[in-house]
Amino acid sequence: MDNEFVEKQYKYMHNGASVEDFMHKFHMNFDELYGLLELCRIYGKMIDVEEKDGVLVFVKPINRSWNNKLDLDPTNLIHTQFGVVSDTHVGNIHQQFHLLNQFYREAYNRGIKKVYHVGDIVDGNYPNRPEQPRQQFLHGFDEQVSYVVDMYPKVRGITTEYILGSHDETHYKNGQATVNNWLSRCRKDMVFLGQDCALTELNGVKIFLDHPGGGSAQSLSYKPQKRIETLESEHKPKILLIGHYHKSYYFVYRNVHGLLVPSLCDKTQFQQKQGLYNYVGAYFIDMYSDKDCNVKFFSPEEIIYGPNDMWDEAGKDYSRVKKLVIK
Ligand SMILES: [Fe+2]
Ligand SMILES: [Fe+2]
Repeated sequence: MDNEFVEKQYKYMHNGASVEDFMHKFHMNFDELYGLLELCRIYGKMIDVEEKDGVLVFVKPINRSWNNKLDLDPTNLIHTQFGVVSDTHVGNIHQQFHLLNQFYREAYNRGIKKVYHVGDIVDGNYPNRPEQPRQQFLHGFDEQVSYVVDMYPKVRGITTEYILGSHDETHYKNGQATVNNWLSRCRKDMVFLGQDCALTELNGVKIFLDHPGGGSAQSLSYKPQKRIETLESEHKPKILLIGHYHKSYYFVYRNVHGLLVPSLCDKTQFQQKQGLYNYVGAYFIDMYSDKDCNVKFFSPEEIIYGPNDMWDEAGKDYSRVKKLVIK
C-alpha cells in the first residue's frame, strides 16, 4: 500500500462518519481497518476512532478542542495563548526560515507572548554522516549559531523558550560547544530551558518539553504515550510538547495533552533516504486553566504548511529570507 492509496482512503473517512458504513463500503474487517488507520498515521494523516452515542465514528482531530468552549464560565479561569515550533535545522539547505517568520508575525498579531521551541534549532554536524556538509549552507558551530543570533525572529513582547535537541547536541559532542551559551549571551528574548527535555510552567500550568532522539515514531501515538507513562508523578505535566519526529499529532492520554510538533524544515536527504515522512508546520494553543492550574479547555490549532507555502528549491530560503524584526 502506498501513499496514494492511503490518501484516497483518508478522503473517505469523513469527520463524524460511521466506521461501520466505511468498512461495509470497502469490504473491510476490523484488522484491515486498524491497519489502515496505522498507515494513515505513518503517512502523517491525523485520524482517530471514537464512540459516539454507541456508534463508532471517525474523528479528524485538526483544530479539535478538547472541551467545549461554550460550556466554560471564564470568570474564574485564566486564559493563555502560546505558540509551539520545533526542528528549524538552521544551516540545512532545506530550512524554511521564512515560515518561521510567518508564524512569529501571526503570533504577534494574536498578541501571543510566549513561543516554545522543542529542539534541533540548528542542523549540527554529524561526523558519521559525511554527506551532511553538502546538505548545508552553514558549516560548524560558529556559522550555525551566529545565524540564529542574527536571524531568529525578534518580535516585541515575544519570548522564545527552548530546549536543545539531538542535532544541537552534536556541537557539544564534537567540541563541547553549547548553542545555549551563545544564545543566552546574545539574545535576551531567547531563554534556555534544558538539553533534551525540561519542565516549565506557564501561568502555573506544567509543561514538559521533550526532544527524545533515536529512531522515528512509526506509530504516532505509541512512543508519546509510553513517555507519559514513564514521567514520574511529581514531574507529570499537564502538557507534553514533543519535537524530533517532524510529525504532527494531538492526543490526550492520562489527562496529559500531548503534541507531536512538526518541523520548520523541508524534507532532508537523510529523511529521504530513510523513508521518513516530514511534516512542516507549528501549533497555536488556546487554553483556559483554573486556580489549581488544571487545564479546563485546550484547543491546539495545527498550522500545516503545504507545497504552496514552502520554498522547495534547495537554497531558496537562505538566499532570500530576511530577518523578521517587529519593534
Ligand atoms: Fe529534527
Ligand atoms: Fe532531533
